[in-house]
Amino acid sequence: MANSVSVPGRLRSSASHLASRTYSSGVLDAFLGRFGLRAPSGMASKANEWSNCLEDRYRTLRVRRWPGWRVQAYNEILYAVVRVVRPQVVLETGVQHGLSSSYLLAALSDNDLGTLHSIEIAPPGGWQRGPPAAGQLPSEEVARIGSAIPPQLRDRWKLHVGPAQEELPRLLQELGQIDLFFHDSDHSENHMLWEFRSTWEHLARGGWLASDDIDYNRAFDVFSREVNGVPWKWIGQKPRRGLIRKEGPPLPTPPQSGSGHV
Ligand SMILES: C[S@@+](CC[C@H](N)C(=O)[O-])C[C@H]1O[C@@H](n2cnc3c(N)ncnc32)[C@H](O)[C@@H]1O
Repeated sequence: MANSVSVPGRLRSSASHLASRTYSSGVLDAFLGRFGLRAPSGMASKANEWSNCLEDRYRTLRVRRWPGWRVQAYNEILYAVVRVVRPQVVLETGVQHGLSSSYLLAALSDNDLGTLHSIEIAPPGGWQRGPPAAGQLPSEEVARIGSAIPPQLRDRWKLHVGPAQEELPRLLQELGQIDLFFHDSDHSENHMLWEFRSTWEHLARGGWLASDDIDYNRAFDVFSREVNGVPWKWIGQKPRRGLIRKEGPPLPTPPQSGSGHV
């Protein structure tokens, strides 16, 4: 498949950050190559530093169990997308403890550019009906949406609490134009399609649409065909993420210092 990358599923290591590094680098190279992009130098090690910082934070605050190198690697790719694309306005749906938000915010911080708007439904009573299962925030802590997000990253973060069905149209009106959208809320096919269609209208030329869990249903593929977008997917492991770039001008080459290693 020309526009997707599959990474062997048997990568295991007791040093999770090393496994993540290897995995992330492979996917990252494929992503950069596909779009002819260059990463800012030192980007991969910076992403790994953030991962270590977040893993520590998960352990100290007991937000929940650290999800492991696989999810870490996927989020490092999200970090990389922001570093390379340098968006000014980023919008995401689905925050929960704020892992994807943290990586997006870390990249905005390292770019010294941009704002992240996040929409989260914050269901009354929390994310579970009965007693909290292992790894879930207890109901009374529902106010702590994004509890994993490090304080030093919060100045670029604007949280909008409510259902995406209400918050997304309102926010898109208010923002006018966005540069990057990341979906990770309700993964029903209808809802995903609705979010993709709504945000695409507001995406700048050359803007990017990213989605988690693209293998849950046909929404991402249907939408890619609908907009004649050239999707890029990383499909080696779950969760599977996909990315489409809206047609637009070529991306600027990021400043390089030193060897140019990712
Ligand atoms: C998979 S979790 C998000 C994980 C998060 N992106 C991360 O990386 O930590 C999905 C989240 O979407 C939220 N959600 C589900 N349906 C929603 C809707 N219609 N509007 C807004 N948020 C929604 C849920 O409350 C849940 O917190």
